[in-house]
Amino acid sequence: MALTRDDALALDARDPLASFRERFVIADPELLYLDGNSLGRLPAGTRERLNAAMDEWGSELVTGWHDWIDLPTRVGDALAAGVLGARPGEVLVADSTTVNLYKLACAALDAYSLSAQRALVTDTDNFPTDRYVLEGIAQQRGLQLRLFDSADPLLGPQVSDLEPLLQDGAVALIVLSHVNYRSGAVADMKALTDLARRYDAHIVWDLSHSAGAVPVRLRECGVELAVGCTYKYLNSGPGGTAYLYVAEELQSGLRTPVWGWFGQAQQFEMERPYEPMEGIGRFLAGTPPILGLAAVEAGVAVTAEAGIDAIREKSVAQTELMIALHDEWLAPLGFELGSPRDAARRGSHVALRHEDAWRICRALIERAKVVPDFRGPDSVRLGIAPLYTSFADVWDAMDRLRGLVERGEHRELDATRARVT
Ligand SMILES: Cc1ncc(COP(=O)(O)O)c(C=O)c1O
Repeated sequence: MALTRDDALALDARDPLASFRERFVIADPELLYLDGNSLGRLPAGTRERLNAAMDEWGSELVTGWHDWIDLPTRVGDALAAGVLGARPGEVLVADSTTVNLYKLACAALDAYSLSAQRALVTDTDNFPTDRYVLEGIAQQRGLQLRLFDSADPLLGPQVSDLEPLLQDGAVALIVLSHVNYRSGAVADMKALTDLARRYDAHIVWDLSHSAGAVPVRLRECGVELAVGCTYKYLNSGPGGTAYLYVAEELQSGLRTPVWGWFGQAQQFEMERPYEPMEGIGRFLAGTPPILGLAAVEAGVAVTAEAGIDAIREKSVAQTELMIALHDEWLAPLGFELGSPRDAARRGSHVALRHEDAWRICRALIERAKVVPDFRGPDSVRLGIAPLYTSFADVWDAMDRLRGLVERGEHRELDATRARVT
């Protein structure tokens, strides 16, 4: 039998991370926010950090660059140590995930692809921007894009799905998500990375849905290249600056396709032709967004302080609770689990499939003060952000969802899709 609300409250009382909730701005305590996997909440410390950054701008003006110039690598080092399992000097905070993916994919193709390697690979269920970047590169360079379906869509890409595509030796580059944006399936990063290397192919991993919620061990898994965003579980704010990772031993052999002055060896010797600087900084292009970087720094600090293993432990307990309540309350109402049942294979969100998912999502937001998001064609996606999601939030959100669908309230809404889902 599923837990009662008192059981959920008891879990909150024992939760070692419970006090982190106070570190976030919660403007409306009645609102159950289960969309931190899309846009994280505002950490209270970010306001102070941004105010300080603005004061620096006000008082120091252009001389502030003496300190600001190191921010992309300084924040990168904090991410590397606290979140990504990487070494200092391997992570750079810059640009968007999309742009970083383009930069690393082009850099790897330029450096590594052999003349027979004319193909790029990703899975059909990968996040759209990842597929679009590869489509664009394939068209620009006259390469083939091979899209594959995972045999079990709930589990995402497995070695057995990918290996047949690599056997002809034509694949240069693969792009995979560590955690799938719709189902939440966790990919076996080490096994897939090893597979690619056996066939002389290179993977760029997209960590957007894992970093900050699921342990990422880039060095341990032998990962060469990765990108990800910071506005989800790392709480850097809307449009927060993204990051890229390049294993140290690869850096000197790779060049970004965007040759800008911030990646130049002697940036202020203006007359020189382009020559990339040593280290991860060579993947910079133009002037870094200092206010945005300050927000990333503050967001990453809260996550690092809580510790990724403690965050993961709570996330697993909360997605388990969600699934238990789904089985008891929602399955009889026509819902189906759209995420892996095995916690080890599941990230920090749960997809609940229903033929009327779009209207149910709207009704949750408009009538029940629960914020999920809709992911087509038929998923209500519920995200757990353990730093501020309580067990009672999960219980109450599932209870409100059950009541709303039992009463058929969603059927009173218009089925027209909004621009943002
Ligand atoms: C897996 C994945 N990659 C990339 C992005 C977004 O990339 P960008 O920050 O460039 O918009 C998202 C956004 O949700 C995502 O889920």
